[in-house]
Amino acid sequence: MTKPIWIKHATQLATLAGEGKGPRSQEAMSELGLIEDGSLWIENGIIQAVGTTNELEKRYAEKLHTADIVEASNHLVTPGLVDPHTHVVYGGSREREFEMRLEGATYMDIMNAGGGIHATARMTREAIEEELLEQTMSRLDSFLAHGVTMVESKSGYGMNLETELKQLRVMKELQQKHAIDLIPTFMGAHAVPPEFKGKEDEFVDYLIDKMLPIVAEENLAEFNDVFCEKGVFTPEQSKRILEAGKEYGLVPKIHADEIEPYGGAELAAKVGAISAEHLLKASDEGIHAMAKAGTIACLLPATALYLREEAAAGRKMIDAGVPVAISTDCNPGSSPTTSMPLVMNLACISMRLTPAEALTAATYNAACAINRQEKVGSIEVGKQADIVLWDVKNYQELQYLFGVNHVKAVWKKGVKVVG
Ligand code: NIG
Ligand code: FE
Repeated sequence: MTKPIWIKHATQLATLAGEGKGPRSQEAMSELGLIEDGSLWIENGIIQAVGTTNELEKRYAEKLHTADIVEASNHLVTPGLVDPHTHVVYGGSREREFEMRLEGATYMDIMNAGGGIHATARMTREAIEEELLEQTMSRLDSFLAHGVTMVESKSGYGMNLETELKQLRVMKELQQKHAIDLIPTFMGAHAVPPEFKGKEDEFVDYLIDKMLPIVAEENLAEFNDVFCEKGVFTPEQSKRILEAGKEYGLVPKIHADEIEPYGGAELAAKVGAISAEHLLKASDEGIHAMAKAGTIACLLPATALYLREEAAAGRKMIDAGVPVAISTDCNPGSSPTTSMPLVMNLACISMRLTPAEALTAATYNAACAINRQEKVGSIEVGKQADIVLWDVKNYQELQYLFGVNHVKAVWKKGVKVVG
């Protein structure tokens, strides 16, 4: 039996506790469930009580001496951050492309010339499982150091059965080997691989007939994602892939309207996707369709910044009633970062989210985007004790002092893993 943990005297405890079980939109994104002089009691990896220090002191009077005490005065305490969109398992790196873009090449120019996703696919196809495992472990360490305790992870750097399965199996192994919870997504439709160039529909058939059944049979993924973009997969092809995944119980997600407006947001609403990602160029109709369907907009402001594009219209989406989550999009091309705190800062600066909305988008709504809101995303009794102690006094300060890692300590399932 491990000792209970009593975190007390938090200057501000942002519980993110709220009404209902679904993602939050509009005003509900600003309700952080704040407690001053906050306190929580953790036992067996689960949050047992949340309240003021005074309340918990009385309630646990008889057990106080058995606990590990964490003095949190002058600090903010929040739930562990959740990153609902990454491509964290990959081989190699692409620093030369960063230079090429600064010299004037676009993301799609590089990809169409065989670089970009294709370059990482070659390096990932070549890498052995142990290499992928080791490289991903160190990225996950970095996520944890930035206060992230749950990460969604996509395949998609294989685009053939062997390598897609290799990536997904690495994710499965990482569940045992790393403290972070990894939530797997199949993204065989990340690009059309060179062996199917000019035969895009045949690749879609191959993915549906040969890849999906095995991914489902081996229980390797929960979600199914598609890069729906001009020159990659059309809305029709994307729909086929997502509908086929649904037959196997895989929940749709879509990389939508990133480079050009292409009907991706509309498609997300139509196929009942849990979330649509990027949305830099989403149309007003698409935004309204998402609001109506309750589709989460998973926005990636670090990617927009890195590609020197204008960020998605986060403010407008929230005002239109779309629940918004945010994510790093951690990948070797368009967003090589593991810093969710930076993403929260950017959500405020480049998408005009308020500091409170950015925190909701990085915790509770992010958990909703990967169907984990019953377990994580808020500090409530019965939830997994994924907790971050920040070296700032309140949530506004967390978003205001930007580009700095304010994490002081992290507990994962009640075990201290950072600090
Ligand atoms: O979400 N846009 C497509 N996929 C990734 C980038 C992948 C890569 O460049 O390696 C994204 O930005
Ligand atoms: Fe992505």
